[in-house]
Formats: sequence, structure tokens, C-alpha cells
Amino acid sequence: MTLDPPSDGSHPDGDRGDPGNRSGPDDRGGPAGAAVMTDGGRPSGRHESLWTATSERTDYGPLDGDIRVDAAVVGGGIAGIATAFELVERGRTVAVVERDRILDWTTGRTTAKVTSLHGLVYDHLIDHFGVERARQYADANQAAVERVADTVDRLDIDCQFGRAPAYTYVESASDRGGVRAEVDAARRFGLPASFVESTELPYEVAGAVRFDDQAYFHPRKYLLALAERVADHDKHADGSGEGGIYEETVVTAVDDGDPCRLGTDRGEVVADDVVLATHFPVSDHALYFSRLSPKRSYVLAARLSGETPDGMYYDPSEPYFSVRPHAESESLVLIGGQNHRTGHADSTTDRYRELERRARERFDIETIEYRWATQDYTSIDSVPFVGPAAPQLDAVYVATGFGGWGMTNGVAAGVVLADLITGRSNPWADVYDPTRFEFGASKSDLVSHNKHAMGHFFDGHVRGRPDLDLSGLSPGEATVADERDDPVAVYRDDDGAVHAVSAVCPHMGCLVAWNDGERSWDCPCHGSRFDIDGNVLDTPAVDGLDSVDLGVSDR
Ligand code: FES
Repeated sequence: MTLDPPSDGSHPDGDRGDPGNRSGPDDRGGPAGAAVMTDGGRPSGRHESLWTATSERTDYGPLDGDIRVDAAVVGGGIAGIATAFELVERGRTVAVVERDRILDWTTGRTTAKVTSLHGLVYDHLIDHFGVERARQYADANQAAVERVADTVDRLDIDCQFGRAPAYTYVESASDRGGVRAEVDAARRFGLPASFVESTELPYEVAGAVRFDDQAYFHPRKYLLALAERVADHDKHADGSGEGGIYEETVVTAVDDGDPCRLGTDRGEVVADDVVLATHFPVSDHALYFSRLSPKRSYVLAARLSGETPDGMYYDPSEPYFSVRPHAESESLVLIGGQNHRTGHADSTTDRYRELERRARERFDIETIEYRWATQDYTSIDSVPFVGPAAPQLDAVYVATGFGGWGMTNGVAAGVVLADLITGRSNPWADVYDPTRFEFGASKSDLVSHNKHAMGHFFDGHVRGRPDLDLSGLSPGEATVADERDDPVAVYRDDDGAVHAVSAVCPHMGCLVAWNDGERSWDCPCHGSRFDIDGNVLDTPAVDGLDSVDLGVSDR
């Protein structure tokens, strides 16, 4: 199968500056008309992930010509790097191909809780997948916690690894039954679960699941150490060797075969096996777009006036609220939440503000030091897809749909895929099998996810839009409007320059919506994101938004 390359796959996520005025999506995330809103002030904190700000940037060179390796891994997030590392440890030559920089996207923007406690998942899994596969999920994720701990120890990785209990808590007594059921379900699988009614949080909870001896770390420092081993594993004294890490290399084609062939904009990678670890598979042979739901969420690194709680806390309400300490400082906590479907927020700047408001309501905060946003995909039955990408493919594998729990599911995915590729049986492969269809677990989400996407498609194309009038568009504002009957997405930057692109998402034709917090165009249907000049930030789109010549630079 041949894919067209993004017009430029190497652009960072949005801006790192002041989100200005905007017009944008209505409350359903659809395109709106004229500019409407004045920015009420910049949200607090430096607009950058703490993890990227406090670790070294990578500078692996791009692919330069054709290579032959045992396995090719597309995507340099936690799943890709973990898989490559596992394969290298087993003596395979591996090439990791990354369109941008490794560990810079979702993996570089997580809250990095290394725990097998994933909200309230085990009771759900028993109900919908049965006890045996629920046990597989439990074993895989608890084993991942210990695998990270062992690897930190064995390779002596300096990554702020620390042990802490993890909690899923509820604040309403009426929700206590769900917490108790989760404790019972987790204990069936030998997980270190107990029910508690008090925590170190400075506010009351009605009840909580507590898992002992879980962990946190600096995700980039841990994974950069693994990546270094992947980068160096096939280097000979004369500098030759084809395995390694190739950044700024865009995959343009994935051909299953014996061997497989990976087309890129820098040369061809020939490999016995290919792993697609790109968040959203760049080659979609199994309708993943209809089985994955994209969401965005927000994180603040806040300095408290006193000490932080020792544990990691998660309130599974909608939107969720999470807290974890930062190992390097006794007063720094990471506070996350305000999740929403991608392309479905009135103002993402307001999501930052609301998260800060909630955080200040609950903690005595001195300063907000960093703020950032991230994107996750959740499968329609809440279990990731890890394994053969499609029944008709012999040697192409996928890892996606971690639902915000990628720190353990990503590590487990590395083990599962390395086992499958090297011909070992894996005790967890069944629950992750991407070809499964658990109707009971997924039917309502399947219907609502796809109904939603179709609704946006028709809404975007049928609902009227105003004609483009740039005279009302101030610096920092954006609009979706009609230009000669075609929908255009237009942004005027802080210097007054106009950036105009087609508003039609090249994936399946929905109209994009403005994301004022990150200054990007986000698709409300399946989560593709684009920068102000139309370059792809998040898949499933592989082509960028077409640029539009308005005939003037700043009319
Ligand atoms: Fe699918 Fe835009 S139409 S991501």
C-alpha cells in the first residue's frame, strides 16, 4: 500500500507562546464563523512539557539511502522504543523510523505514572472480556511496572524512578460501590489492592482503591537511555551498520511481504517484520479510525507552598483529575485533567484555566511552572490494540489505543511484539489482539464514536458559514469561513500575517476546528491535527491541509 507523505512531518506541536484571541469551534467542536472572543490573559506557566524542558533533545540523523534490518519500527514513542529495545536485547537488528524527534509527543507529555491501576478497569474487564483475559491485562501491566524497575536497576538509568502507592478515588459516597468492586476484581489477580477511606490529599475522599509499590519516573530520561542502546546496537568499528534510529524520516509506504518494504522520503527500509507504533497506525488496514477515539488532556507542573502528597492519585470522573509528586522536588506536583475529545472544546485555553482553578481550589499553590497538553487514543473497548495489524497481513504489527495508560501498556506492548516477532508464545497476547471484537464491551462506544464522526462530517458540509472577511480578523484570531464557496481555515498571527489552508481534513473530509491553546487546526472526527500552515501534527491524516492562496498577504 502506498501512502502520500505529509507535506512536512517535522513540525512541533503548536506554539509555545501566548495564545491570543480566537474564533473557533462551537460547543460541539464544529467550525464556527467570525472571530468572537478576546483572550482573557495568558494561562499560567511556561507552555512546554516539564519532561522535554528537563532532558536532552535528540539529534539522530535521518535515513540516508536504503537499508536492510531484521525489524523496522515506525514511531519513536514509548511503544516503539520499548519494542526496539526488546528486539535488540534479543540480538535482532532494528531500525526505528520517526517523522519528527523521538519521545517528543505523547510520551514526552504524559504524567508518567508507572502503575497497573488504570482508573476502574478490572471490574469492567471481567464483565466484558472474562476472567482469563482480565487476568492477562493485570499480569501484563503489573509485570511492566517491575520490568521498568529492573531495567532502571540493571542499566543504572538516572531517571528519577521512585516507588509510590497509586490511588483511584471517588468523592461521592454513591460511587463507593464501584471502588469496592475494583478492589475485589484486582485482588482476584493478585494485584496489591486495598480499599481505603483516607489519603494524603488535602481534601476528603469517599473511598479509594490503593495499589502498593507502584512507581513514577522521568519518561524521557528512562526511554532516552533505552534509545541510546537501540541507536548503538549495530554500529561497527568502521562506523558501518544499518540498525539504529532515524529521525525526520517520513514513512510513505508500508508493504507487507517476505521481506516487508518500508518506503520513506529518505530511502527504503527492507525488514522481515514491521511494527507500526505511530499512535494512530500510518497504514490502516483494519478500520482503526472507527475503533479509536482521540482525546486531549492538560497537565500543570505546580509548586506547592508545602510538601506534596507521596502517592499518585486519579479521580475517574469526567473530566478526570490526577495528581502525582515530582521526584526531584518535595514541593512540585503534576496535576492533570480537563480531557475532551479532540476538536471538541470551546476554548482549549480555557481548559488550562479551568484546570488551574480546580488545582488552586484544592492545593495551596505558589506557582504554576509548566503547562502542556497531550493527545491519547482510547480503543472502543478500553483495551489497547497490540499484535498483528490485520488478519491479511503476515508481518506487520501494531501498538495503539493505550487510553492514557501508555507507561505500562507501552512497555508490555514491547514484550508482546518482541515475542510475536521472535516466535515465542506470549501469555498476554490474547487480550491485546487487535483483531478481537468484544461486542458487549464496545457496542455503545462504537456507535457513539462513529455517529459522532458522521454527524460532524455532515454538519461541517451542510451548515452555512459566513463568507471570509479578513478585515475583522485581528492578530491571534482564527476563523473557518467560505472563500469562493470552499471552506478555508484562516489564522492571523501575532505579526499580522495571514495563514490560510483548506478547512477540509484530508483523512475523510470533516472540517477542522481551531485549537486556541496550541494554535493548531484539530479534526473533530478522528483527531488529526495540523499546524497553522497545514502540516500534520497528529495522524490519522498523512497529508497536510492544502494551502490556499487568498491573493493577498494581509488584507
Ligand atoms: Fe478523520 Fe479528519 S476526517 S481525522
